[in-house]
Amino acid sequence: KEIYDIAVVPGDGIGPEVSKAAVRVLTEALGSTAVLRFAEYPAGAELFQRTGDSFPAATFEACRSADAILHGAAGLPGVVHPDGTEAGLDFTLGLRSKLDLYANVRPIKLWPGVTSPLRGREVGDIDYVIVRENSEGLYAARGSGVFLRGEVAMDPLVQTRKGIERIVRFAFELARTRGGAPADGRRRVTCCDKANVLRSYALFREIFSEVARGYPDVEAEYALVDAMTLHLVRQPSHYDVIVTENMFGDIISDLGAATVGGMGMAPSAELGDGNGFFQASHGSAPDISGKGIANPYGTVLAGAMMLDWLGRRHGDRRLLDAARRIELAVHDALAQRNALSGDIGGTMGSADITGILCANLAPAASAA
Ligand code: IPM
Ligand code: MN
Repeated sequence: KEIYDIAVVPGDGIGPEVSKAAVRVLTEALGSTAVLRFAEYPAGAELFQRTGDSFPAATFEACRSADAILHGAAGLPGVVHPDGTEAGLDFTLGLRSKLDLYANVRPIKLWPGVTSPLRGREVGDIDYVIVRENSEGLYAARGSGVFLRGEVAMDPLVQTRKGIERIVRFAFELARTRGGAPADGRRRVTCCDKANVLRSYALFREIFSEVARGYPDVEAEYALVDAMTLHLVRQPSHYDVIVTENMFGDIISDLGAATVGGMGMAPSAELGDGNGFFQASHGSAPDISGKGIANPYGTVLAGAMMLDWLGRRHGDRRLLDAARRIELAVHDALAQRNALSGDIGGTMGSADITGILCANLAPAASAA
């Protein structure tokens, strides 16, 4: 493939600022040749306020047919549906279900120059990936449970053999192929559940154990989600890949992000068999939007994940090479501590950070 079509959905709040930063770094990393063709499409809370439609059919069609989707952020406080849920989330949640993006990959990595709130933790101490099941579990109940306004609400938690099997396989495959390693150098997948209390999680654990037998080279272990939050604070260096149900993945990935500098440092990739959707894990931060001070690293790193995913799928070295060079540029910018936004202890704005990242990019390897 010569050219890849990327659907960019800037969204609300700081979304447009951070997606612009990522598009700039990606374009720069791929050099002058137009390898990526970006086109912008509307979705989100602001659009909903204006038009009554948070996720237009044309935006969905563009996302479905694109080679990959890059999102800024969405949502504005108070812009809600009659049942009280947020309209700005329709895009992200709608894409997940319509495109069956079942694997939500959330790397938690402490970069140099970024201070962890965990005492004594340094680069290399925190480097694991949360694989969040993204198609079923508690989130799949959205809008379909029992709802009697002001009186009763019920959201059933459903997990299926098919859904559990594919996410657990994904996690074991990732453990085999990903870079980085826990402190002891062992590849492992941790099953994070609440199998001692709820049947759906007991099924998750049962199927995890079955699948794990097919990966004797990877250590399999278990943690109850409440204990997991404690381990991720006390002993983060133990972890490699963690696989978990949708809602638990949502919660522990924010906890993980906090240990490596906050939501601004946390990228996210949502993958199906045919589509890939990339964004930072953070929200639209309307309190700081338009000020030019948003942290662009999460979205830039999500952009690098996008290149890596596309590069592997299409066997395209140009993309894989660009992904590596973006990660190195991020590494250098952070290590030198001269390109830090307010949330990670600096004073620099998004545009200046983006400029430094572009300047840090090593020249592309000559095409193989
Ligand atoms: C996330 C976010 C989303 C979620 C929202 C925006 C729907 O918090 O990606 O973690 O709850 O899954
Ligand atoms: Mn979340």
